Amino acid sequence: MPWYALAVSTRIQLRRDAGKVGPTHGPWIRTRQVARILGVPDPGELAAVEDRHGEVLGWGLVSERSSITVRMLQWGAEPPPPQWLSQRLTRAFEARQHLGLQAQPTTGMRMVNSEGDGLPGLVIDRYDTQLVVQIATAPMAARRHELMKELRTRFDGPVHVVRPESAAKTEGFEPGIEREGEHGPLCFVEHGLRLSVPAPPSQKTGAYFDQRANRREVARLAAHAEGPLLDLGCHVGGFALHAAAAGVPAVGVDRSASMLERAAAHATMNHLPGLQWVEADMFGVLDDPRLAGPFGTIVVDPPKIAARRRDVDRAAEAMQRMVARVAARLRVGGHLVLCSCSHHVGSEHLDRFVLASPGSFTRVALRGADLDHPIAPGHIEGEYLRVAIYQRRT
Ligand SMILES: C[S@@+](CC[C@H](N)C(=O)[O-])C[C@H]1O[C@@H](n2cnc3c(N)ncnc32)[C@H](O)[C@@H]1O
Repeated sequence: MPWYALAVSTRIQLRRDAGKVGPTHGPWIRTRQVARILGVPDPGELAAVEDRHGEVLGWGLVSERSSITVRMLQWGAEPPPPQWLSQRLTRAFEARQHLGLQAQPTTGMRMVNSEGDGLPGLVIDRYDTQLVVQIATAPMAARRHELMKELRTRFDGPVHVVRPESAAKTEGFEPGIEREGEHGPLCFVEHGLRLSVPAPPSQKTGAYFDQRANRREVARLAAHAEGPLLDLGCHVGGFALHAAAAGVPAVGVDRSASMLERAAAHATMNHLPGLQWVEADMFGVLDDPRLAGPFGTIVVDPPKIAARRRDVDRAAEAMQRMVARVAARLRVGGHLVLCSCSHHVGSEHLDRFVLASPGSFTRVALRGADLDHPIAPGHIEGEYLRVAIYQRRT
């Protein structure tokens, strides 16, 4: 018997009817797939996952309180080495050197994307000289001191560690924010634009890096359209600022006055003319005269509208009404960019929204998050961002 079979303190035995389990079926083992837990589950330890005959299928991190009981780290009988956290952080950090983002130039990027980097429950975003670490699972919360030590060997700027309330509640750890080092707003450069977002607590870790490549691609298309760009859910100005940098006037809409203030400051800092900012509810009537159009490009980037599957119908109805309202303001030949960051609202829903809208549309592109947001093959839940670009034909 190998040493690790003797040393393991927690074994998770799967049910006879656990269904498909293995590398091609994603890294999550759900509570309904588990027959029994042998030993006292400890989020600080690795657990062996076994089939009903006691054969080890792989190794993972246990969250006893969550509906995802195990997040797998490695398949096969052999466990990951004791220094797996350090090794995976090194690989994730090194991988970002080879994406070409720095050359864009861009200094704000995701350094660790949870399962996509083999580090479930951990997101690390770099804002130039600062890091924001987001911990979303009990096993990562249990390793936070080890994690900080590891980060300190790789990074000497300020670090913010966020343990969000919502994750803390479902996983059973203490929520909170800790900071190491001097800090202020999170400043960074994206495609040469100087930007900043508030330090945590804020939306996501501060910025929406996932949309970075889409902001550039949409600005490129907008430069070939007739008319301004409408950016619904503009946050700190992302799509609108990129359009203005490409010479296209734009109107940004958000319901957060403080984010719009920041967007306006970004326009000034980057010497970008032709931008207007409107505080409004994107699901409302949108009767401000600045939103009347016609527009050459319209981006609809709402917040997560359906966190659970049962929210989808209600959310889809609201989205459909809103898309129909704004699609009528798009010129023929222009592009409508529909985004969903809800895993349960996929491209088939986005297609339905345009099919129910005035005019006729064809889909010209279906995109996801930028390169610094890798997804573990087979982990369909990791694919949360869908961006469908449609062209209006009549
Ligand atoms: C997914 S983020 C958009 C990210 C942004 N487009 C970017 O590229 O960085 C969603 C944005 O919608 C805003 N928001 C949420 N609900 C809204 C509503 N009902 N009306 C307008 N804006 C809303 C949020 O404040 C947030 O800035």
